[in-house]
Amino acid sequence: METADQATNNLIGDDPFKGAAPGKKPVMSAGGQAAFFSCWDIHAYYGESYIVQGVSFDIREGEIVALLGRNGAGKTSTLRAIARVDDPALKHGEIWLDHKPLHNMKAHEAALTGIGLVPEDRRIIQGLTVEENLKLAQIAPPMGWSIERIYELFPRLGERRNQEGTTLSGGEQQMLAISRALARDVKLLLLDEPYEGLAPVIVHEIEKTLEQIKTLGMTTVIVEQNAIAALHLADRAIILDMGQVVFDGVSQEVLDNADLRQQYLAI
Ligand SMILES: Nc1ncnc2c1ncn2[C@@H]1O[C@H](COP(=O)(O)OP(=O)(O)OP(=O)(O)O)[C@@H](O)[C@H]1O
Ligand SMILES: [Mg+2]
Repeated sequence: METADQATNNLIGDDPFKGAAPGKKPVMSAGGQAAFFSCWDIHAYYGESYIVQGVSFDIREGEIVALLGRNGAGKTSTLRAIARVDDPALKHGEIWLDHKPLHNMKAHEAALTGIGLVPEDRRIIQGLTVEENLKLAQIAPPMGWSIERIYELFPRLGERRNQEGTTLSGGEQQMLAISRALARDVKLLLLDEPYEGLAPVIVHEIEKTLEQIKTLGMTTVIVEQNAIAALHLADRAIILDMGQVVFDGVSQEVLDNADLRQQYLAI
């Protein structure tokens, strides 16, 4: 394991943002324990567009965090930066998962290290059945859940195992997208708007599944426009505004604070 000092040497770039972020570096907690997941002072760009502007937060193992904020606040960009996809480009900061530094990794390496990003568009692979989509997720080790275990969690997918994935309903496609992440050995599940475009009854079904996954200890970040639903599921909420963290606290605090919701979530 690397020490905090070594971690500092892993900073991306030549540190043009020194002192830019408020708060202290969270790589090591007071007790000397590294957080399960930690991002510290991350700055990310689409070309010249400066979008993620010094975001820092920690996540404990098994915690569910709702990452909230208005349209364009930088939620998707933050998830993408954590998953190490090329765009936005991470120009500064550190990202750690289970003692491993992700900030210098490519997306496929971050995925192998345990990041499971489920993007908004779900990316079900055309021409493949449900089961083939799942098998493809398991093509290389490390393996996560068995396909049978996934069908126990989502019986609807089991019933439709031979159906082409892209012909599933929106809710079923979301189940398949989550399942593909579970089929790999995911340590941090990043869900971008899993309830988007789904009827309330399906939202409720997926919510119940996420609660089940939570009891199994899966550490999860959920980005949602349906903030109230996400807040009921999550232990903690982080609110972004203009690419910066403006709130980090227990979910109930956001549910109880109408001013905060109005100001940053417009609900
Ligand atoms: N590929 C891109 N190129 C340039 N700018 C981008 C790109 N993708 C996103 N942006 C900009 O970055 C900002 C943050 O976008 P992002 O998608 O992270 O917001 P979001 O919080 O996920 O919003 P929403 O709730 O609408 O999904 C926006 O101003 C957006 O226009
Ligand atoms: Mg988004």
